[in-house]
Amino acid sequence: MTNINTLTIENFLSDSEIQEIEEMYKNGEASLKIDDVPEIPPEMNLDRTANYWHFDIYNNLRLNEILLLKLKKIFHKDLYVDDCHILESFYPYVVHTDAVAFDESINGHQDGTVQANTGYTSGWTFIIPLDTYNSHTIIFDQEVPLIKVPCTWIQKENPPILDSISDDIYEKYLKRAISREEARYLSIEEIFPWKKGSLSATSRGKFHCSDDFIGNGLKSKRAIVMWTTIPTENFNG
Ligand SMILES: [Fe+2]
Repeated sequence: MTNINTLTIENFLSDSEIQEIEEMYKNGEASLKIDDVPEIPPEMNLDRTANYWHFDIYNNLRLNEILLLKLKKIFHKDLYVDDCHILESFYPYVVHTDAVAFDESINGHQDGTVQANTGYTSGWTFIIPLDTYNSHTIIFDQEVPLIKVPCTWIQKENPPILDSISDDIYEKYLKRAISREEARYLSIEEIFPWKKGSLSATSRGKFHCSDDFIGNGLKSKRAIVMWTTIPTENFNG
């Protein structure tokens, strides 16, 4: 169905390149978009899920050099970065895809995901942690390019129950991200550890989520996140 492969590349960014990105951030080169998705249980005493600090990658020569040019070489010569931001996450994201911004079952809620322009199709989501954290992104095998959340997928497509995820794995990584019942339809492709400078690449249409990092004692975590597209006519590279 797709050639958007899942890949982890360690040391994609060096410590000094990350330092440069942190300087850009401190110098106000990233603009803040608050993500005030009201999904957090009130007892958590948090007023938001995350902050998104947007970079204009096409008008930033250095980011072009250390991110875009390298990604184009590795993944696709015509890769387009629709969105490049520092994700500052305060509450684990539940299981979702990054290919669409809207899902009818989320009560009309539209999130910050940028959709493909005409002539383009969803490419990879890239995640590059800015530090090493006791946290992971869980990527599932299931790919649903036009759906945002598992409950819509289960209702519409009636997928088979796999029972592939053990109770131990569910407790360790997924208990804040999906119900035990819905997890029965998913299987895990990759567990990406948040290591400074590592790159996680995965199809924007694949279900993924954060582990329970706040349950593991972290207050927040930060990473560069990019949503990309590639031209439809060049789909096979
Ligand atoms: Fe995502």
